[in-house]
Amino acid sequence: MTAVRVAISGPVREVQRATGGGRVREMPTEGPLVDRFGRVHDDLRLSVTDRCNLRCVYCMPDKGMTFLPRSEILTFEEIARVAGIARELGVLSVRLTGGEPLVRRGICGLVRHVAALGFDDVSLTTNGILLAPVAGELAAAGLRRVNVSCDSLRPERFASIRRRGELDVVLDAMSAAEAAGLAPLKVNVVLLRGINDDEILDFAAFARDTGRVVRFIEYMPLDAGGRWKRDQLVPGREVLERIDAVWPLQAARRAGDAAPADRYRFVDGNGEIGVISAVTEPFCGTCNRLRLTADGAIRNCLFSDAEHPVRDLLRSGGTDQDVAMLLRRAVWGKLPGHGINEPGFLRPRRSMSMIGG
Ligand code: 5AD
Ligand code: SF4
Repeated sequence: MTAVRVAISGPVREVQRATGGGRVREMPTEGPLVDRFGRVHDDLRLSVTDRCNLRCVYCMPDKGMTFLPRSEILTFEEIARVAGIARELGVLSVRLTGGEPLVRRGICGLVRHVAALGFDDVSLTTNGILLAPVAGELAAAGLRRVNVSCDSLRPERFASIRRRGELDVVLDAMSAAEAAGLAPLKVNVVLLRGINDDEILDFAAFARDTGRVVRFIEYMPLDAGGRWKRDQLVPGREVLERIDAVWPLQAARRAGDAAPADRYRFVDGNGEIGVISAVTEPFCGTCNRLRLTADGAIRNCLFSDAEHPVRDLLRSGGTDQDVAMLLRRAVWGKLPGHGINEPGFLRPRRSMSMIGG
């Protein structure tokens, strides 16, 4: 296995070259969304709701979740407006997330609206429960790809991790999505030590058999219940070693690829997997992401509590230029890294389902 990490290239490298070694001294008022460290932000995640029809153990407590009141949630028009302004600022890809994005009624309309803005890529992350019936409509609306979360291939275990919903429904949804042309399909697996880490090889076999790209995600301190413990996460490196011992892997990461997953191909050509080692091998140095929460705050990092509220601006007559400057300031304020592994790290106040995964 050649676990090489490629050097930064592409737009990030170009800006770094232009700015002399990575540092940017002043917040630009034109050109791409760039931070102090030369990272260009061209990927926007839009959380359309904080609600969900499941209660995965690594995300939410079983009972007692409180959700945002409707009036605090951005309308589709507001979300699309921010997306359009981001497009003007050079954002190329958009992902709709939640909570669970498909629990929000009329989501296909939002996809249509966002897809018409001219992004290179419009995708969606879902738990799959409500996906099968709308997969065709989503594809017709301009959605390109979906990521489906699935943490176990064993029905009882699936039920105990996700607390609601059924494995078969999610597997059928994957097939429906592919039939609708939402491919290549990615499958997100959050690994929890002692709970589903005995399924690493099963998931690798699943990737080989189906051609779906299975991505193993390290458990992050972002659950609403505050139960995260470091010893429960399964390091990406360990996942790779366990799979490589059975089916040799080779790094498949493309130069300039800012995606957080380190991608690996099976040497025999049968498919691909990825690991998202957000905790043990942070990829902050190439982070290109920006997030809009369901209640209209711009976040520059999953792990930073700094939020730039855009909702009030949208609702009080702010101009597109005002919103653009808010996006610029949000990116400009980004720290070099999330600091999870440093003493004094505080877990973020808002959890994954509130921020948007
Ligand atoms: N740690 C890691 N991944 C998480 N997800 C949700 N909560 C956590 C967590 N605490 C995953 C979901 C989904 C993606 C958006 O994030 O399973 O696949
Ligand atoms: Fe819902 Fe996704 Fe959180 Fe699971 S991880 S409870 S599917 S938002």
